[in-house]
Amino acid sequence: MDFDTRLFREHWHLACHRNELPLAGDYLRLSTPLGELVVFNDGGELVAFDNLCPHRGARIYTGAAGNQPPTCRYHGWSFHGGRVTVPDTGAFAGCDLSTARLNTLLLEWCGDFLFVAIAPRQGLYQQLGETAGLLENIGFNIAGRLDLNAYDFGCYWAVAVENALEPYHIGMVHPDTLGALDLQAGENLYHGRNSVWRAPLGNTRVDKQLQSLKRQFAIDFAYDGYMSIYLYPFTMISSTYGYSYSLQHFLPAANGAETTHFSSRLLGAHAASPRATQLLAPLFASTAEINRKVFDEDHQVCRLVPKSSWSPAPLAFAAATEEKIVHFRQSCRDWLAEGGEDTSPAPAPPAAAAPARPRS
Ligand code: FES
Ligand SMILES: [Fe+2]
Repeated sequence: MDFDTRLFREHWHLACHRNELPLAGDYLRLSTPLGELVVFNDGGELVAFDNLCPHRGARIYTGAAGNQPPTCRYHGWSFHGGRVTVPDTGAFAGCDLSTARLNTLLLEWCGDFLFVAIAPRQGLYQQLGETAGLLENIGFNIAGRLDLNAYDFGCYWAVAVENALEPYHIGMVHPDTLGALDLQAGENLYHGRNSVWRAPLGNTRVDKQLQSLKRQFAIDFAYDGYMSIYLYPFTMISSTYGYSYSLQHFLPAANGAETTHFSSRLLGAHAASPRATQLLAPLFASTAEINRKVFDEDHQVCRLVPKSSWSPAPLAFAAATEEKIVHFRQSCRDWLAEGGEDTSPAPAPPAAAAPARPRS
């Protein structure tokens, strides 16, 4: 099994926030190196599975997100509470339909964030380290999803992750978008293989404008500046002032391909009142628009870096602003070293597990 597939199989991955899928039938679909991953709301419980019908393997969900009951459009099998409903069961004499199940993944909550895994090497909280407390605080302040932006980057996933880990390129690549915040050097924090960058805004005019918006929000946790959290290996969360959070995935494509399944979801914090919700709508709309532009700018530059330019070896020339890349590559080397030789012939299907009941 290749490096990317093993990273995917053997880690917990942040799939979604509880408030992204509040209604029965709400779903979200991600592409992974092992096929697709869908999380759906099964009458109040979130279930993660491989998006394949156990009958003849049709894909059940085809959109990126939405609301649709888990019913297969091929022959009408449907799924609820871990059970399968098959139309015309009489046609299946001699088959034990009670063994038909969705191929589910393991689930674990960190506050209101749902993580999924296939065969993790560690428990979720062990993998997250002190980042877990940060995620819990953020999660409790999120009201729901405001935007979803998903497409494939034409580069290897580690190239896209390293780009997201360093602010060195901001002036060159994002002069009119992220660059306008004039982010200061700030500080890097390391929690195991995860890392956090917190940077004050150098643009005092924008900083004051953002400060003045605080009363429109009902939030009890925020960093007054720009914060970006990296969850090893494929996830980033970034925010300015905690008013909204961009949850990004840079998932590898199958077979080590030079393609990254990129997605960014904009999650909004709780507004202080219905009136504040109205007032904040233009701010959230412009945040979504700017984020889309920033990721497009990132994509254009990531495409310049062929996969052959990347390896987990130390950087020959590392700027101070590339310190988190140094840490990322060390993490990759450590992970490879502690994993030993892998002799599995091929990726195994995801482990079956009972869906976790969301915390009420
Ligand atoms: S493939 Fe899904 S019901 Fe037949
Ligand atoms: Fe960037």
